[in-house]
Amino acid sequence: MINVGMLSSRIRVEEKLLIQDLEKRNVNFEIIDDREVILEIQKNGWEYDVILERCINHSRALYALLLFRDWGVPTVNTYQVAENCGNKLLTTSALARAGIPTPRTMIAFTPQSALQAIEEMGYPVVLKPGVGSWGRLLSKINDREAAETVLEHKQVLGSYHHSIYYIQEYIHKPGRDIRAFVVGDETICAIYRTSEHWITNTARGGQATNCPVTPILNELCLSAAAAVGGGVVALDIFEDPDRGLLVNEINYTMEFRNSIDTTGVNIPAKVIDYTLAVAAQKRS
Ligand SMILES: Nc1ncnc2c1ncn2[C@@H]1O[C@H](COP(=O)(O)OP(=O)(O)O)[C@@H](O)[C@H]1O
Ligand SMILES: [Mg+2]
Repeated sequence: MINVGMLSSRIRVEEKLLIQDLEKRNVNFEIIDDREVILEIQKNGWEYDVILERCINHSRALYALLLFRDWGVPTVNTYQVAENCGNKLLTTSALARAGIPTPRTMIAFTPQSALQAIEEMGYPVVLKPGVGSWGRLLSKINDREAAETVLEHKQVLGSYHHSIYYIQEYIHKPGRDIRAFVVGDETICAIYRTSEHWITNTARGGQATNCPVTPILNELCLSAAAAVGGGVVALDIFEDPDRGLLVNEINYTMEFRNSIDTTGVNIPAKVIDYTLAVAAQKRS
């Protein structure tokens, strides 16, 4: 029988749904709490056929996945995917390397050079922390005075982490963006997230409706997912009025609670199918 480990922090709605699905299957599974784990770098003490990573904290996920990889334990997702997706700078660079259309993005390391980059890009721009989610600490900057203020705040109040400036052109979306879900080699479903606010995350009040997976959307999603290493990922996609679809970011421990009823797709079942397939592949 296949042994599945699910590495998680708090059990959120998503983890509950994944557990319920695992319970229906003929597998052994165990919930591993990341607050309690102790990992010995030189020695694999873990007997799982596959580990499904569902941590909330990016560093915990990243380091645990690294060691599982070293020990030869298959994981969903892989260390490589977590590394590429957990940091927006690395995601954008992986997408650009693969020739995937993305919003124009600049990196700067000091407030002075960041201001220069912002002026060069032209207003409005969006400033984002490299590591972050749920739309937190994003700034839409409409003019030079706002730029100076945000940069000063970041310098004085921020950590080192906030001194890496990720500066992106603002995309004039049609009041919504697209969140698409890729599992293995399939774009299983997508939603529109509509909001009066420029930040459309459903965690921030964005409304979810079904978005048909057209061949164009599917092809873009599969190549973007492949560019970061594949697996189980959720992509944020913008509809640019002139350039068409642009990939904004890719999430590797995705939330999906608002997208199951909206799309009619049993997302947790698809994730578990994929996870068990990864385990089976390892055994064969
Ligand atoms: N360059 C941009 N232009 C327009 N809207 C943006 C831009 N970047 C982010 N947003 C909006 O903010 C939301 C959150 O940004 P995102 O980069 O996905 O960060 P997070 O990891 O916090 O979700 C996006 O879904 C989108 O609605
Ligand atoms: Mg996002």
